[in-house]
Amino acid sequence: MRLTLVGTGYVGLVAAVCFAKLGHEVIAVDREPVIRGLKENKLTVWEPQLEPELADVYANGLLRFETDIVQASSDTDALMIAVGTPTRSDGHTDLGHIHEVLSHLMQAGTCPPLVIIKSTVPVGTCDELEATLLAAGLHTEVAFNPEFLRQGSAFNDFMEPDRIVFGCQTPQAESLLRQLYEGIEAPVHVCDRRSAELIKYASNAFLAMKISFANMMSDVCEGYGADIRHVMSGVGADQRIGPEFLSAGVGYGGSCFSKDLQSLLTTGKLIGSPLPILESVAKVNNQRIPRMIAKLISLWGNPSGKRLCVLGISFKPNTNDVRDAPFLTLLAQCERHGIEVQAFDPVVRQVGAKSVQLMDSPYAAAAQADAVMIMTEWPQFAELDWPYLLHLMRRPYVLDGRNLLPSPIISQIVDIDGAIYMPVGRPMERSPIPWAGVSSPE
Ligand SMILES: NC(=O)c1ccc[n+]([C@@H]2O[C@H](COP(=O)([O-])OP(=O)(O)OC[C@H]3O[C@@H](n4cnc5c(N)ncnc54)[C@H](O)[C@@H]3O)[C@@H](O)[C@H]2O)c1
Repeated sequence: MRLTLVGTGYVGLVAAVCFAKLGHEVIAVDREPVIRGLKENKLTVWEPQLEPELADVYANGLLRFETDIVQASSDTDALMIAVGTPTRSDGHTDLGHIHEVLSHLMQAGTCPPLVIIKSTVPVGTCDELEATLLAAGLHTEVAFNPEFLRQGSAFNDFMEPDRIVFGCQTPQAESLLRQLYEGIEAPVHVCDRRSAELIKYASNAFLAMKISFANMMSDVCEGYGADIRHVMSGVGADQRIGPEFLSAGVGYGGSCFSKDLQSLLTTGKLIGSPLPILESVAKVNNQRIPRMIAKLISLWGNPSGKRLCVLGISFKPNTNDVRDAPFLTLLAQCERHGIEVQAFDPVVRQVGAKSVQLMDSPYAAAAQADAVMIMTEWPQFAELDWPYLLHLMRRPYVLDGRNLLPSPIISQIVDIDGAIYMPVGRPMERSPIPWAGVSSPE
């Protein structure tokens, strides 16, 4: 099949490479600077496997890059749109990028027979887009094919999904969609477009709800001296619940959960159906960083002038994506409290904020710090030389915002005089010898 795919971000680029791997001829379209970067092998998206897989399909001629949407879709079987759909400040979803793509085609008076929306869009959007195209004289079916990949494991998720969802109106559209996914073994769920649009939002809302549930219970565990890891593994062992997305920590982030939750809340309000469970999900998540700051204050007293070493900036491991990362909220709150931040991340090289010093190693980030906080569960953080890292700090305090460190490392930490290890949803551990207030040398 010939597929034109607009938008080469975290979703579009992985999808373009995977469809090319499945044997389709793919033309990927984006704005000029993005396409120039892709042609020069300068990727803005970091994802495991992406570089070699992209190089492979590009070298084989199965994937091309273009900037002109009209030209790229002039002789194609389907046009897939994977552009961003951010939330506006009023809570509504901004469909501007999708409208911009379609406006090029409407101006040119031409459109492929099938437009597949891969971007996450509110219920009713595909109906409206199809009507807009029809009003411009273009007889095109608009189908919805939501994406469920997770950044950090995007290739596996795309090639081995739990399910594929097609929201479409005609057997022709379904048949084209089935051809596109031929070679991927997964249950296919075919339904009307509106239901498919809601499947995507409801899935993300449910996952966010599981995370907030675990975080809510972790507060109770902290109050009563229980261990959230035991509680949630006992809960998740029930097949009706499942073990995934039940880890307590500093809260969810990323470009999807908060945005999609907000969009779904607005969708509900529009028809007078508020979604109180989801309001609470967001509220619990918003309390995570203030709670971490409160823990710092419980250790330090006055936080002003203290230095915090932060390990992990991206919203999750194995991605360079900082959109809506809990780190950004932490940074803003540290600024308000006069806390200086030195941070390290294995792949993030810039965050666009002046109030943080990005360091090129975790040890450099720890220099003269008054505490270290793990914000992202990059596995390599568990392999650091923790006694050495703590030796570089002013005070040996560790806040493990992801419950990442294993017991042998925690034992090494609390062997150090004055050390405190403070996890989430579990009792803290500390050296029997209190901190003597002696700083290590610069
Ligand atoms: N990131 C995820 O993990 C994920 C998972 C599932 C679904 N989604 C959804 O997929 C969509 C895309 O998300 P993303 O994270 O890949 O976004 P992104 O911001 O990484 O990528 C969007 C790309 O679209 C391009 N673009 C925007 N307008 C364009 C136009 N008019 N012409 C050409 N290119 C244009 C941008 O330049 C950018 O490269 C969103 O709706 C998102 O909600 C994202």
